[in-house]
Amino acid sequence: MEPLVSTNTARPKDASVELSNVTFSYDGNKNALENISLHVKPGETIAFVGPSGGGKSTLASIISRFFDPQEGTVRIGGADVKDIPKEELMNTVSFVFQNSRLIKGTILENIRLGNPAAKKEEVQNALKAAQCMDIIEKFPKGLETRIGTEGIYLSGGEQQRLAIARAILKNSPIIVMDEAIAFADPDNENLIQEAFSQLAKGRTVIMIAHRLSTVRHADCIYVLKEGEIKEKGSFDDLNAMKGIFSNMWNDYQKSAEWKVNAI
Ligand SMILES: Nc1ncnc2c1ncn2[C@@H]1O[C@H](COP(=O)(O)OP(=O)(O)OP(=O)(O)O)[C@@H](O)[C@H]1O
Ligand SMILES: [Mg+2]
Repeated sequence: MEPLVSTNTARPKDASVELSNVTFSYDGNKNALENISLHVKPGETIAFVGPSGGGKSTLASIISRFFDPQEGTVRIGGADVKDIPKEELMNTVSFVFQNSRLIKGTILENIRLGNPAAKKEEVQNALKAAQCMDIIEKFPKGLETRIGTEGIYLSGGEQQRLAIARAILKNSPIIVMDEAIAFADPDNENLIQEAFSQLAKGRTVIMIAHRLSTVRHADCIYVLKEGEIKEKGSFDDLNAMKGIFSNMWNDYQKSAEWKVNAI
C-alpha cells in the first residue's frame, strides 16, 4: 500500500503521454502487454483497436495507474506517473468508461462529481455540450431528478452522455475513453459522437474504439493483438498495409452494410 499522502512532487509539464517498453502481466505468468512504446503529443487523439482480449483495456488502465507495469515507464507531461502525486494525476486524466458508474443521487450531484465546486450554470453548460438536454427535459424535476428511483430509467447511451458531461465539467487535459459498443439506436449514437467531439476539443484523447468508423480521424491508430502493437499509423496508412486493420475494416463495412439492408 502506498501512503495516502504522497511525498511525490513531479508535475506534468504538458498533456503528452509516453509509454516506453511497457510490459505487464496480471498473473506473473502470461504477459497481457508486451514491450509497448508509444508517444501521444498534447492535443492528439489516438485509438486502440483489435480483437477481444488483445490488451486495449489493460493498456488504458496502466496509463491511469490502476496497475503499474512490471517493466517500462509511463510518463505524463514528461513526468513518470509514479512520481506524480495521486491527486494531481487524478486531476490530469479523466475516464469515460462504457459502464461509467452513476451514483444514486440527483443528476446535478452526478455531474458535480466532476467538479464539486462548479456552479449550477457550469453544470448546465457541460450537460448542453454533452448533448444531454433531452434527458433533462424529459423528467419534470430536471437537474434535481434522482437517478435510481422508481420510474427513472436511463439507457446505456444516456448514461454515457451524462458521464461525458461529468468529464467535460472536470476539465482535465487528458481523456481516456472506452467507447460504448454499438447502440441499437442511431440517434443516440450520433448524440454520443457529438458529445465526445465536444469533450475531445483541445484535449489529448486516448480512445478504445469498438466501432471502427470512429477511428477515421485519429492521429494514430494502434492495433493491439496478443498484448503487442501489431500495426500503427493513420487510417489510410493502415488500410494500405492490407494487414490486420484493413481486414477488420472490410469486415466492419460488410456488417454495417448488412445492418442497413436488414432495416
Ligand atoms: N483483471 C484481470 N485479471 C487477469 N487477467 C485479466 C484481467 N483483465 C484482463 N485480463 C486478461 O488480459 C488480457 C487482455 O485483456 P483486456 O481486457 O485488456 O483486452 P481488451 O483488448 O480490452 O478486450 P475487449 O475488446 O474484449 O474489451 C486477456 O487475456 C484477459 O483475459
Ligand atoms: Mg476491453
